[in-house]
Parts: sequence; structure tokens; C-alpha cells
Amino acid sequence: MKTVIVGLQWGDEGKGKVVAYFSRFYDSVVRYSGGSNAGHTIEYNDGTKIVNHLLPSFYKNKTIELLISNGVVVDLEILCEEIKNLRKKVDNFPQIKISNLAHVVLPIHKKLDEKFDKLNKIGTTKRGIGPAYADKINRIGFRLKDFENEENLRMKINEISVIYDKIYEIVFDFENLYEHYQNLRTYIISQLEIINEIKLKKVLFEGTQGVLLDLDMGTYPYVTGSNCSTTGVQSGVGFPVKLDNFTGVFKAYLTRVGNGPFPTELSGKEAEILRKKGNEYGATTGRPRRVGWLDLVLLKYATTVSGVQEMILTKGDILSGLEKVPVCIGYRINGKFVDNILDIDDIKNAVPIYEYLDGWNDINDISFKKYIGFIEEFTGIKIKAFSFGPRVDQIKML
Ligand code: IMP
Ligand code: MG
Repeated sequence: MKTVIVGLQWGDEGKGKVVAYFSRFYDSVVRYSGGSNAGHTIEYNDGTKIVNHLLPSFYKNKTIELLISNGVVVDLEILCEEIKNLRKKVDNFPQIKISNLAHVVLPIHKKLDEKFDKLNKIGTTKRGIGPAYADKINRIGFRLKDFENEENLRMKINEISVIYDKIYEIVFDFENLYEHYQNLRTYIISQLEIINEIKLKKVLFEGTQGVLLDLDMGTYPYVTGSNCSTTGVQSGVGFPVKLDNFTGVFKAYLTRVGNGPFPTELSGKEAEILRKKGNEYGATTGRPRRVGWLDLVLLKYATTVSGVQEMILTKGDILSGLEKVPVCIGYRINGKFVDNILDIDDIKNAVPIYEYLDGWNDINDISFKKYIGFIEEFTGIKIKAFSFGPRVDQIKML
């Protein structure tokens, strides 16, 4: 059995918790794209809380294998920290395997990310993700396998420094990368071994960010540097793995960090109340997230391009207590009503049109069931479970 779980919005849908919950039915969890821009928060039932940026999410009381595949860009220092931290927090330490073909995020990538972002104002996480993928495509990136032989590594650093100097006029620095690599060495295996593991086992592929931040199908240029949607799985693991289940996670309202269009965005007091109630502050950068109402037009777009066959709703409990719950069911674009977009750029000029559904005080209320039914009907996709609190086991199957 192979399943991919992706976020259907702009990230922070609660994927980490959902992946952790469902990982109990799998042998391995695989990260296939992104890097330490991700921030996956898992709160276990015993109260332990983990925020991972690179390690896959998992259910704590189970022996499980965590794989970081070729499509991920790895910040060695952050990964070392995460592994160290995990050793302190779990008794059942999982098996960790990292692909030798994964690219490495260098200190220079973070500096370039800052420099670019000052000018093009995407509002990135400054984790060096875009520049690391750009170097991969420019064929000047460093893969973990480049670290195997120290002498060859030094030679490569010299070669690449010259290119950096000529193109960017920046001094290339490598800081303590080699020491971090040494700490990770025992976990690194060949990508072919990772492929063989995936072929043999029950595997859960953990998406990062969300479909609307996908490099190709998201709100370009306000997107991340990778195909974080379901389409990234095959290139991210280096072979055409056949997936059985495509699952999408979405939140009962919307959030976004960084810039870019957001038709249902709230401002002022209303935004502040929702942000506080939902604790919407970035897990990676601490930035207050932009917040707004659930946008069913965008949700439908995300289900279409990601091909998900089922959805999981999170944070419905955060909206409890509202008399009416607004959901966006269409836009007015240049005076015309539309409830379906053919181009994601259309949302730039969209004025949202809301339907006001009855609120709920408790997730067992009939109005909550009706809200779920309304979303299923609009999108044509079944909601198979919902999460009603931050802890891993606070999930109800439908
Ligand atoms: P980058 O991925 O750091 O290049 O940032 C590009 C855009 O994606 C920015 O708007 C970020 O805020 C957003 N982004 C990247 N990772 C995440 C995430 O895990 N959750 C939410 N937004 C993210
Ligand atoms: Mg997050």
C-alpha cells in the first residue's frame, strides 16, 4: 500500500499531525520534496511536542522507518539538531535513512535567499530552498554523495567557488558542513536502496507546504521551489512509484505566510481573533500567518490538480462558537460570477462571494455534519476523517 498525503492550501493545514496519526498503518514515511522551510508540528498524547522541518512525521509508539529521498534539499545542521532532539524525546528511536542523491542547502543559499527576497518580495522562509533547487538545476549543486571523499569535495568546492565568484560576486563559504555530514554519515544510503525499500514496503509519502504553493500549479511566483503537490512524488523518489491513495488535508479556514493573492483574507480585529484562536504563527519562522475564510473555489482547484480522492478536515474545532460560518462559494471577477477557475491567476482580481452556514458549538452538532456535507458536495470529494484538536489521536474517522 502506498499513500501520499498533501496539503490542499498554502501549507500549515496540519499535515504533520495527520501523517503521524496514519503512519501507524505503514512501515515507512518518506519526505520527497522541500526542505527545512516545512514546519510540521506533532503533539503526542503524552504531551511531548515535536516540530520537525526535515524528518518525516510519525506515530511515536511504533518502530518505523523514516526516509529522506532525493527530491529533498537537506540543511545538514538542522537535520543533525532534529535527530539529536528526537533521541531525547522518544524511546522507540526510528530507523532513519537519507538518500545520497539529496542536495545540500549551503550557507550561501540562505544568504542568496535573503538577497533575492529583499528584491522580489515573495516572503520566503529564508531557509535557502529556492537557491538550493536553482543550483541543482544549474548543475552546480552539492549532493550528499559529494561529501564521501574529502579530497574530491575540496576540489569541487574550489571549482564551484569560481563560478559563484563570476556569476554572483559572492564569496563561497562552507562553514562546518563537513562536520555535520560526519554526524549524519551512518544514515546515508544510496537512492537505489531507498527505491528498493519503497518497493517492498507499505509507504506513506508526506507532502510539504501545499498544492497552492506548488512550483508549477500554485500561485506563481508566490510559490516554493519544488513540486510539493502529489506530482512531485515520482521525481522526488527517482522512480515511477504507483500510488494507491491520494489524500488531501485542508483546514476549516485559510492561512498563508508570505506574499501573494488571498481573496478571502481577513484584516483588523476579525483577523486577529481568528489568528489567536487558531494559534496561527509560523512553525518555521514565527511569523503571524495571514488568515481568512475557507475558499471552496480554491479547494476544488487544489483537488483537481493534485488528484486527491479523499480529504481530511482539520481545525473545525477552532471555528466553534460562531453563529454563522462563512465559506467562499464563488467570486465576482470583472463583474461576472464564477465558481470555477481555469487559471489560478484569476484569483488576483476576485471578490469572494460567501455562503453563511450554521455554526456549531461542538463537533458532534448536526450543523458541523452539514458543513462537512456542503464541502463534499461542492468539491465532489469525500471527507474521510476530521481532526478536532492538536494531539495526534484527536482524529475522528467518518
Ligand atoms: P520558500 O519555500 O522558503 O522558498 O518560500 C516560498 C513561499 O512558500 C513563501 O510564501 C513561504 O512562506 C511559503 N512556505 C514555504 N514553506 C512553507 C510551509 O511549510 N508552510 C507554509 N508556507 C510555506
Ligand atoms: Mg507548517
